[in-house]
Amino acid sequence: MDNLLTVQRAQPAPPCTVVIFGASGDLAKRKLIPALYNLVACGQGMMPAKSAVLGFARREMSLDQFRQSAHDWTTRFSRLKVDEACWATFADGLDYLSGLDRADGFAKLKAKLEAIEKARGIPPNRVYYLATPPEAIGESVERLAQAGLINAPDAPNFSSVVVEKPIGHDLPSALETNRVLVKHLDESQIFRIDHYLGKETVQNLLVLRFSNNIFERLWGSRNVDHVQITVAEAEGVGTRAAFYDRAGALRDMVQNHILQTLSLLTMEAPVSLDATAIRDAKLNVLRTIRPITPEHARANTVRARYGAGVDADGKQVAGYMDEPGVPDNSRAETFVALKMYIDNWRWSGVPFFIRTGKRMKRRASSIYVQFKDVPQILFNRDSVIPANALTIRIQPDEGFSFDVMTKRPGLDLVLQPVRMNLSYRTAFGDGASPDGYERLLLDVMDGDHTLFPSAQFVEKSWELVQGISDLWSDGARVPMAEYPAGSWGPNEADELIRTAGRVWHEP
Ligand code: BG6
Repeated sequence: MDNLLTVQRAQPAPPCTVVIFGASGDLAKRKLIPALYNLVACGQGMMPAKSAVLGFARREMSLDQFRQSAHDWTTRFSRLKVDEACWATFADGLDYLSGLDRADGFAKLKAKLEAIEKARGIPPNRVYYLATPPEAIGESVERLAQAGLINAPDAPNFSSVVVEKPIGHDLPSALETNRVLVKHLDESQIFRIDHYLGKETVQNLLVLRFSNNIFERLWGSRNVDHVQITVAEAEGVGTRAAFYDRAGALRDMVQNHILQTLSLLTMEAPVSLDATAIRDAKLNVLRTIRPITPEHARANTVRARYGAGVDADGKQVAGYMDEPGVPDNSRAETFVALKMYIDNWRWSGVPFFIRTGKRMKRRASSIYVQFKDVPQILFNRDSVIPANALTIRIQPDEGFSFDVMTKRPGLDLVLQPVRMNLSYRTAFGDGASPDGYERLLLDVMDGDHTLFPSAQFVEKSWELVQGISDLWSDGARVPMAEYPAGSWGPNEADELIRTAGRVWHEP
């Protein structure tokens, strides 16, 4: 089918310089540099011509060393294979500055930016990407402002600041981070990033729901029995224990990625495709989620951490407590399961089951929408017919499938469940999906906030998980369950869904 419909981007973005704070860190290596390369790469060419990328970090490094490292990281992590001619174009606009932690660091940053802009003949449009620990956000913004590096929002050239999740550690710290941001920046200059919103399949939730008549008509308590969202990772904590052990799965995944996904899945139709309309519609979902008080959390949540086991490749792996950097008195969970309700007209009474964890059986994230059973009248009078279900596979093997009943061909009347399947790989080809960071970086350059969480959403989502973390912070009252690495999680999570009369669907 070549009946394509393009929803136009507003205006092609003007050239800019993207400054990556923390340019030698994990995020820059694995995600940002490869994503920027992909935006420049020949054939893609989405990044405005002549734009530059400036790495800004504490570490001393020559420009050659930085370019070489960037080449190595991109070779390892990029979606598109590195093409040396394209790399040369990209590397030409790649620069590096050390001294992020030094007193004169920001004065040097200013001089460096001016030199880059002069040499490339581009205007002073700047994107400051704070890929640094959350506690450094306030200081960086303060120093940018003091150095005169933030333009007024209505100035002809933009200054945009991108901040990574988590925004804060709880509601008070999120409020404080948002306060520091708006002290020096207008909301229109702030981009709070949640990379799940950049994933193709998450973006497709809106298209699936609002450009196909059949789904939206079925979407709600009249027809849906329950919904499951699973975000399973095969990897363990790796080298990130210093960060992860303070966060745990609830703060690392549920407060942000999962609540964002849930809101897109369940929101009302926005009044337009405008960023404010979509953000408002999402926020309204959060406002109607049944508050999870500590008492409610006790019966409706499970927390667990992985013990030793066998990973997806059949390799023996250590339990969380034996991972490098995990303190002996750790209280972090690596797995969360919970049951929640959205108390609005559309979703009243429909349970939502959420689970996410590290070191699970395999990497698989999906949304499973199970529809109500057909009446027990004709074919299923004496036996149970499996219900229809829509599974949206977020990653890997992106796509969706629909389980329906059919008559098996033959002279006997035999009913058989079949799966209608759309695989992105088959339909659109391998590597067709840009990485979430590519989409989101481009949106920052375009000044488009549609796929970025608002301050209110972030604050409301902290409020929602607060009851759970309050309960869990008292370790004596809620035991930490354990699951073997390489499994689908603890028995307690199975029990949680079983007592609600359902079972987990393999994602
Ligand atoms: C990050 C979390 O936000 O998302 C990580 O901090 C997690 O702990 C990662 O591994 C998962 O992202 P993805 O895109 O691999 O599903």
